[in-house]
Parts: sequence; structure tokens; C-alpha cells
Amino acid sequence: MKLKLVYISITNKVNNTLDPRRRRYTLNMNIDPKLFETIYTSRALRRFKNEPVDDEVLFQLMDAAIRAPSGQNAQDWRFICIRDPKIKDKMHDWAQTPWLRYSARYADDPSEIDKLPRSQRLSLRSVEHLVHHFKETPVVVLVLGLKDRHSTPGGSAFPAVQNLLLAARGLGLSGSVFNFPLSHESELRDLLEIPDSNQIYCVIPIGYPSDQHGPLKRKPVKEVVFIDRFGEKWPFAESQPDKGWEDKWMT
Ligand SMILES: Cc1cc2nc3c(=O)[nH]c(=O)nc-3n(C[C@H](O)[C@H](O)[C@H](O)COP(=O)(O)O)c2cc1C
Repeated sequence: MKLKLVYISITNKVNNTLDPRRRRYTLNMNIDPKLFETIYTSRALRRFKNEPVDDEVLFQLMDAAIRAPSGQNAQDWRFICIRDPKIKDKMHDWAQTPWLRYSARYADDPSEIDKLPRSQRLSLRSVEHLVHHFKETPVVVLVLGLKDRHSTPGGSAFPAVQNLLLAARGLGLSGSVFNFPLSHESELRDLLEIPDSNQIYCVIPIGYPSDQHGPLKRKPVKEVVFIDRFGEKWPFAESQPDKGWEDKWMT
């Protein structure tokens, strides 16, 4: 049977029948292969077209973001959607600080970047692009939340972040977390008049991407998922391909 629930067939309904071998009900639902394709291919895209994100689109993104779960349904997240060029200019400048630190390791020999494995090289180049074009980003979303309120800091903000990123994907936009401007957090707080009660969780530049989504490079399940106790290998995962099941979902 082995994960029949998930993968019986991408196209078929899974019937609500008692499987005699499992002695419990299989899922009664339609599998949505598009959802899986989206999950398996949503990259952090950092190059944007020169195309504005209008209010209707932005509202849809944020309205999807706030559908996320939060501790006690407190919803004490707050978002600042930044379009003001003067603010973006400042954030652009602040984003240079971590980049200079980061790129210093390639300063002696920039051709070292070209020797990196492909996915690392492309990712680094896209970060570099965003650093140099941050101020042209159509909209930047700053994600905030009440300080000291939750036992799992960020736990009540990042589900909304992921909703936002998936909603962006759904509307043909893209975004990614990009915290470089937080290198000047106190200046940013002053500029945006953020009260002390609120913590900044992350910065998300959003726009219509000029790069493509596609397969993601991730550690295999067997390396990061244990059974019952830390470090205990999961035999089923051990027997799966290192690249996981992406071929099942990607068209
Ligand atoms: C909490 C968090 C912080 C991140 N901070 C940055 C950042 O400061 N700069 C950046 O370029 N990407 C940042 N990222 C994006 C990750 O680098 C990116 O999601 C990861 O490399 C996977 O990229 P991929 O989905 O395209 O494979 C952050 C992601 C998360 C979840």
C-alpha cells in the first residue's frame, strides 16, 4: 500500500473505503496535483520586471497572508507594504552592508563565484542582482509581530509569510525573504515609526519575476526527518531517492 493515500494516482479520487490491510479509512479527498507542483517548484526569485503591483493584487496577497494560522488565533502580525521610493532607497542602501561583508570572500578573485555549484552560483547571482536593484522592487512587505507574546517567536508570523509567498506564486508574482536591509534595523524602525512593542520578522520584496520557477535543491528527507527520537533513521525515507518525489508532481 505504501503511501497510497498520497499517491494512489494524481488524477484519481481516493475513495472513502476501508482498506482491509490498513484497517482504517483512506483519505476521502481529491488530490490537488497543482498544489504539490507549486510547493515543489516555488523558488526564491529575486529579479523583477519593471511592472507595478496594483492595489487589487496587493490586497489579494495580504488577504491570503492573513488566512494563516497563529498562536491562539491572536493574529498579532502586522505588515507594512512599502512602495515609497524614498523608503526603498534607504533600504537599498542598508542592504549593501551585509552584501559587502558577504561578497568580500570573493573580492580577491570574483571568478571563484563561477566555480561554485550551479544552484549556489545562480542563487548568489540573484542575491547580487537584488542588492543592486532593491530600490526598483515594486513592493516590499515588512512583517512584524508583537514582541514577547509567543513561546515560539516567529511561529505566528512565518505561516503568514509562506501564505504570502504562495499567494504571490498563484498570481504570477514572486517574492522571497530578504533581510539584508535589517542590518540597519534601528534606523528602519525610526523611519517607519515602528513601535517598540513590535518585532520585525522579515523583509519580503515582491514583484513580477523575470526568472523561472523550477525544481528546488533540498536535503533529502532521510537527512532531516527522524522517527521517534532524534537521530533515529526512518527506513522508508532511507529507501527513497535523494531528490524525493518531485518527479511525481512536476509537469
Ligand atoms: C528566515 C529566512 C531568512 C532569509 N534571509 C534571506 C536573506 O537575508 N537574503 C536572501 O537573499 N535570502 C534570504 N532567504 C531566502 C533563502 O535564502 C531561500 O529561501 C533559500 O536559499 C532557498 O531558496 P530556493 O527556494 O530558491 O531554493 C531567507 C529565507 C528565510 C526563510
